Amino acid sequence: MERSIYDTPIFFERYLKLRENPISLNEVVEKPTMFSLLPDLTGKRVLDLGCGTGGHLAHYLALGASFAVGLDLSQEMLCQAEQDLTKKGINLTACRLYCLPMERLDEIEEGNFDLITSSFAFHYIADFPDLLANIKQKLAPQGRLIFSQEHPIVTAHRCGDRWEKDAQKQQQAYRLNHYREEGLRERNWFKQPFKTYHRTMATILNAVIHAGFEIEQVVEPMLQGQEEWHEEFKDLRHRPPLLFIKTVRK
Ligand SMILES: C[S@@+](CC[C@H](N)C(=O)[O-])C[C@H]1O[C@@H](n2cnc3c(N)ncnc32)[C@H](O)[C@@H]1O
Repeated sequence: MERSIYDTPIFFERYLKLRENPISLNEVVEKPTMFSLLPDLTGKRVLDLGCGTGGHLAHYLALGASFAVGLDLSQEMLCQAEQDLTKKGINLTACRLYCLPMERLDEIEEGNFDLITSSFAFHYIADFPDLLANIKQKLAPQGRLIFSQEHPIVTAHRCGDRWEKDAQKQQQAYRLNHYREEGLRERNWFKQPFKTYHRTMATILNAVIHAGFEIEQVVEPMLQGQEEWHEEFKDLRHRPPLLFIKTVRK
């Protein structure tokens, strides 16, 4: 099985440190937006793809979900998830964790989910149409898929500086010169190489439509009405970091 970059010690440690920060992109943008899109979860069966340390799963159970499954490629993430869920007093019989790439979602025994979510992970997936077909098989009729991923204007970057800057080194414009070139992006975080995949907005939306989902809502959060974060996340005032799509299975 392919090894997760999150299982590289330095990558994992830095990621956990980042997640402890109460004003990370995850806390300020991803979680509030994702949670605002959720339907009523009372008594519902939920699956979270790329669940990481299980924060979303805990929230779904707190909202009344009857059963929550988390799937992640990283063993480290799942060990942390187990510890965090136990610490939060979550009844682990209502929860199951799988160490598996989401590309092999068809191998888990559970199905008929009312909701499948994924936060900040689909940009790691090479074959998006294939993943969507697998997801559809695991959803109950009228079940929902809600996901966030890095926004295509973020995944577009290929090389060089992301920003045009002025003489005072102030960010002037975000470069999109590789937007039309879809496919693999070789990236680095703390000198650790990893791969993501760029798809244009049209490719993502059309893949979702062609897989048999009806799009209910698309969100590109921009920190509007969150002035308290404007200094911290200066560059997000005119550039959405994440794309959210809420769908229902037809
Ligand atoms: C940025 S983290 C987000 C974690 C979690 N969803 C959250 O928002 O807190 C991305 C997660 O996706 C997982 N991931 C990446 N590629 C994956 C794959 N092919 N299958 C399953 N999980 C994957 C990583 O291991 C990591 O836990």
